[in-house]
Amino acid sequence: MSELRAPQGVRDGENERDSGPTGGGGVLTDGRGRFDLLFEPSGRKVRVPPGVILFDAASWNSVAIDSTCGGHGTCRKCKVQILEGTAPISSLDTRAFSTEELRAGWRLACRVEVVTNLHVEVPPLATRPKAATVGVGRKVILRPAVQKRYVELDEPTLSDQTTDLERLFQSLDDLELRPELAVLRSLGQVLRASDYKVTAVVVDDVLIAVEPGDTTERLFAIAFDLGTTTVVATLLDLSTGTPVAVQSMLNKQQPFGADVITRISAIMMDAKALGQLTRLAHESLDELAQAVCQEGGVDPSEVYEVALAGNATMTHIVLGIDPESLGVAPFIMSTKLFPEILATEVGVHVHARARAVIFPSLGAYVGGDIVAGLLASGMDRDSRLRLFLDIGTNCELVLGNSERLLATAAPAGPAFEGAAIRCGMRAAPGAIEVVKISAAALELGVIGDVEPLGLCGSGLVDVVAELVQLKLIDTTGRFVTDEVAAELAPGVAARLTQLEDQRVFVVHWSAEVGDVARSIFLSQRDVRELQFAKASIATGWRILLEDAGLKVDDLQQVLLAGSFGSYLSPASAVRLGLVPKLPLLRIVSAGNVAGEGAKMALLSLRERAGAMALLEEVEYVELSDRSDFNDQFVDQLAFPD
Ligand code: FES
Repeated sequence: MSELRAPQGVRDGENERDSGPTGGGGVLTDGRGRFDLLFEPSGRKVRVPPGVILFDAASWNSVAIDSTCGGHGTCRKCKVQILEGTAPISSLDTRAFSTEELRAGWRLACRVEVVTNLHVEVPPLATRPKAATVGVGRKVILRPAVQKRYVELDEPTLSDQTTDLERLFQSLDDLELRPELAVLRSLGQVLRASDYKVTAVVVDDVLIAVEPGDTTERLFAIAFDLGTTTVVATLLDLSTGTPVAVQSMLNKQQPFGADVITRISAIMMDAKALGQLTRLAHESLDELAQAVCQEGGVDPSEVYEVALAGNATMTHIVLGIDPESLGVAPFIMSTKLFPEILATEVGVHVHARARAVIFPSLGAYVGGDIVAGLLASGMDRDSRLRLFLDIGTNCELVLGNSERLLATAAPAGPAFEGAAIRCGMRAAPGAIEVVKISAAALELGVIGDVEPLGLCGSGLVDVVAELVQLKLIDTTGRFVTDEVAAELAPGVAARLTQLEDQRVFVVHWSAEVGDVARSIFLSQRDVRELQFAKASIATGWRILLEDAGLKVDDLQQVLLAGSFGSYLSPASAVRLGLVPKLPLLRIVSAGNVAGEGAKMALLSLRERAGAMALLEEVEYVELSDRSDFNDQFVDQLAFPD
């Protein structure tokens, strides 16, 4: 079904570690109930749990088996020879092979359930499996939950009294299907009106529609990244894996507050607010769904599945689940996993029986968006030690590799979103996003190349980093005196001035130089806000490193996720101590990984299972009850010397 389910397979890294000597056939497994697979001619050995499909086990372990249908049992190209071990003959095998071939062990790999140790010969590839590059350079072999089958059925006669449904199912006998009532209501009429030439639409094992004629080329899904601030929708062509259209919009819940806490507070204070917020989330999703369909020239009824990745609060709200308990200690979610639902239940009007896949959450503050992001980054399959940072009002951090993953959440406050900063604004046209300051001059980069209106998060980080670099802000976060500024940076010293009771640095003068109040400036209080945010985040990754018994030097890469991560200057982030000090090329922007993870779950059942496996693999570290948090936090308030 369309919910995220426990994986029926294994993780690549795990296989490497588990690979042991391969026995022959037989039904004995190792102590943990696993079977050994040995693939020839590569000699690759893996160990898998019982019931894994051979085709999946091979592709998950980079053993390429021919296929153009991605394991759906329609192309009959996934031929392998079982040299040792037992693989029962499927109904599809009897059509794909002669009796001699079956006797010689030939099987279709996508029909073989592993029930013994197997020694398998894989013929050379004759075709290239359909794959798409998604996420952080992840290659995903297409195997969506949604599939279409075109069939031409014999018309019934007086001597052939087979029912309409049986007739259809007989032509799809390699699948074990369940029909939906809505399909039965129109089945007879569709069959007769189309001369018994129809396309069956199947999601997992459910027949959700029967369409007249051959519509196999028209197969779409929508991936949603439901952010607190922005919602993004990507229309995907499931037959090719390519994105057809992308649209984004501000989350319509904005009037209820900029962050999850203010929205939870609104719900606590007003009994009607949950319903209103749920409706606004639905409207945001549906408006985008209609927009991507229109842009892509796709009828909404051709969209058969949607996937939704959001933080825990957004996910609760969109499903109409009260998120109050997420906002107060001990921060308990209603559930980590969400039941199978229809897209209409989250307000998305596409095919009437389209499914919605909802990403599970690891914790109240490490939600489905992070699970999707981890899936897209492939951290759980990579031996490199990496740190994943998604910086917003809440910063989610994940440290690790295929051996072990540790996650935590650190409250960063609204500074990086431009809120709580005197001249702050969201990253929108007019926001100063880049600031370069030398002793002689100052240069700005403004979104949309228009007159500057304020500082967004990346501009804030830049200006503080540049001032720290020039020593116009000392390591404690204080602006230096006018005299020291004039000596250190004569070209910009006049910008350091006084407004009311505090020191400010003018980043952009209004029409009149000297009119500080109407200019865009950085105040001493803004610097403090940034220090608190960066100290919280730096404490988070330092505690994760300590818990893992590692040092900064052990890190091989920092992945900056989310839109803020895309704009943040790695040099400035290192300068402030916001991220670990690594060579800048090793600090990379990972982009909208939540949306990418949602796409992967739609393109591949294997990846969908991988998201689910992350719930078991990631260890959550709670910072709020750590005795060492306060000491670390105080240490991290200072900027690196
Ligand atoms: Fe296409 Fe097995 S992969 S039939």
